Amino acid sequence: MKIMIIGGSGRFGRVLNRILQEEDYSTISLGSKELDLREEGASDEIIKHSPDFIIHAAALSNVDECERDSKLAYRVNVYGTERVVVAADRLDVPLLYISTDYVFNGENPPYAEDDEPDPLSVYGKSKLDGENFVRRISSSIILRVSWLFGPGGRDFIDFVLRGEGPIPVVSDHISKPTCTVDLSYAVLNLIKSKKYGVYHFANPPAVSRMEWAKTILKMNKMDRIIREVSWDDLGLPARRPLNSSLSTLKYEKEFGRIKSWKVALKEYSNE
Ligand SMILES: NC(=O)c1ccc[n+]([C@@H]2O[C@H](COP(=O)([O-])OP(=O)(O)OC[C@H]3O[C@@H](n4cnc5c(N)ncnc54)[C@H](OP(=O)(O)O)[C@@H]3O)[C@@H](O)[C@H]2O)c1
Repeated sequence: MKIMIIGGSGRFGRVLNRILQEEDYSTISLGSKELDLREEGASDEIIKHSPDFIIHAAALSNVDECERDSKLAYRVNVYGTERVVVAADRLDVPLLYISTDYVFNGENPPYAEDDEPDPLSVYGKSKLDGENFVRRISSSIILRVSWLFGPGGRDFIDFVLRGEGPIPVVSDHISKPTCTVDLSYAVLNLIKSKKYGVYHFANPPAVSRMEWAKTILKMNKMDRIIREVSWDDLGLPARRPLNSSLSTLKYEKEFGRIKSWKVALKEYSNE
């Protein structure tokens, strides 16, 4: 089976590509240089590769950048996704779309797959609009995840371990970290099972950013000072859901327990 990864140069895409290849899948992994979803011809470009399965993990994923430039966010996350959907439809192949806990407003966690979305930010709205295009394909999977971490860095762990001076961490922000290695195996499970629909995947339990930061420091035997801040102190343009924890019961019922983020973090730190 030939699997296309759109967003293959991203934090998640790179890990997924490595794991799929280790599992003997043939992959076509594309970053924005090889496939720019803003371009009219993107659907044809995808079709040219004739994949048997498409994973769409590309996005303008910086929440504040999306807020500052909503036009760009929509070009990539909404109309770009529409182009992927057109290609999947013409090729008649399954499509798996990576979405986000930010489609929810954070008022009633934990969120099940059929809970009503109510995004607070341009990013969340654009990902939800992307989901709505993906739903047009009957053999599609929408996989919502939160707080990605894993090999390759450029994530919250990197921020906590590599910066200088006190680390500003928002105290009242809660969700579930998602290990990109575990997520890659979840994607594999979903590809093999052909069980289409919406799923949530994240490593339990829900945790505050503060606790998450403290655990990262402790596991890496580092003693940096954490400065407790609020979102207002940071003055960032995008609103975030305060507690957007995803319920993963549907996935776990089908594929078994998901390991805790503490175990995943330990495995990752030991690598
Ligand atoms: N990071 C998180 O904590 C988080 C949380 C929830 C959900 N998600 C979702 O998970 C998925 C993967 O996130 P990530 O953290 O791996 O993202 P990332 O590291 O920011 O990577 C984004 C990917 O999208 C590609 N891309 C950006 N603009 C594009 C365009 N115009 N055309 C084609 N490709 C484009 C990038 O290509 P280049 O790098 O080559 O430009 C890159 O491969 C995304 O759908 C994101 O919304 C992420």
